[in-house]
Amino acid sequence: MRVFVTGGAGFIGSNFIRYVLESTSDVQVTNYDALTYAGNRANLAEYEEDPRYTFIHGDISDPERVADSIKDHDAIVNFAAESHVDRSITGGTDFMLANVVGAQVLFDAARKAEIGKFLHISTDEVYGSIEEGSFKEGDPLEPNSPYSVSKAGADLLARAFNVTYGYPITVTRTGNNFGPYHFPEKMIPLFTTNLIDGGTVPIYGDGSQVRDWTYVRNNAEAQWLILNEGEPGEVYNVADDNEMTNKELTYRLLELFGLTGEEADARITHVQDRPGHDQRYSVDPTKVHALGWKPRVAFDEALESTVAWFRDHESWWRPLKEAGATQRRGLNA
Ligand SMILES: NC(=O)c1ccc[n+]([C@@H]2O[C@H](COP(=O)([O-])OP(=O)(O)OC[C@H]3O[C@@H](n4cnc5c(N)ncnc54)[C@H](O)[C@@H]3O)[C@@H](O)[C@H]2O)c1
Repeated sequence: MRVFVTGGAGFIGSNFIRYVLESTSDVQVTNYDALTYAGNRANLAEYEEDPRYTFIHGDISDPERVADSIKDHDAIVNFAAESHVDRSITGGTDFMLANVVGAQVLFDAARKAEIGKFLHISTDEVYGSIEEGSFKEGDPLEPNSPYSVSKAGADLLARAFNVTYGYPITVTRTGNNFGPYHFPEKMIPLFTTNLIDGGTVPIYGDGSQVRDWTYVRNNAEAQWLILNEGEPGEVYNVADDNEMTNKELTYRLLELFGLTGEEADARITHVQDRPGHDQRYSVDPTKVHALGWKPRVAFDEALESTVAWFRDHESWWRPLKEAGATQRRGLNA
């Protein structure tokens, strides 16, 4: 099987490729990535010489390069995207170009090349916020940030490819991921690296927002299973079922650094809330459970090993922080 993975130099894509190459012996992976600020070939450095792995530097919104590169593949998995909500608030155009136009170009090229399987990676954010209960795959999309709108746009395009062309694109909507190689502008790696440095952690607003934290390795297993066993053209929610407020998560992290009580409180700063900040994301993963997926690594173990990974890989994240990876944190602050 030859799998064409886009955005494989980013956080989830690189974890997905590592999972596939570790758990199979007969799968060839092409990693097609534009190497934006979030892409880093070093995320898969150990596979650079592996004959099963090929890297191509390219943009998913470049029709000629995409058409040329996807030839002879059996499946496509599209992780490539602009992914940081804060950046979409200060500059949404790049998000529309990569996440909507890029998806259109890729879907179209795949359809014309008759690639057998297409898995498009989306997010639980496309549903918008929910006070109680959990969104199911058929629920309406009510995205609230430029990022989630761009992701919803591609989800709807996938729907159109199914209906208009009879070319089935499978979509997965995932909760907030965390784990190794997570770019340090995002909450868990930002807080972890700040704490390694003995610093403080900036919580948006009162920290009452709820997210369903999903370990990236568990997610990689789910995506691989859905690619291979899922019903083409269907939508699948994926989440570990670890809902907690940002404040609760922050205290769990502080505890891993031996900080509790007043010592922990002293490390928290409250910055002005993100505009349009969704209160709660929650998806119902019954459908992917029915395919046979359950999160293998429990939350506490996953968080502990993630913190340990950042402690052990300072050479990976230090240059990113020094280059300003965390600058946008605290919009309006
Ligand atoms: N991180 C999360 O918690 C989360 C949750 C749900 C869904 N998702 C989705 O999962 C996917 C991967 O997210 P991530 O956190 O790994 O993102 P990331 O920002 O870490 O990585 C994105 C990768 O895509 C590449 N890329 C961006 N634009 C491109 C383009 N036009 N052409 C080719 N490559 C391009 C970047 O270079 C980078 O390697 C995205 O589609 C995102 O929307 C992420």
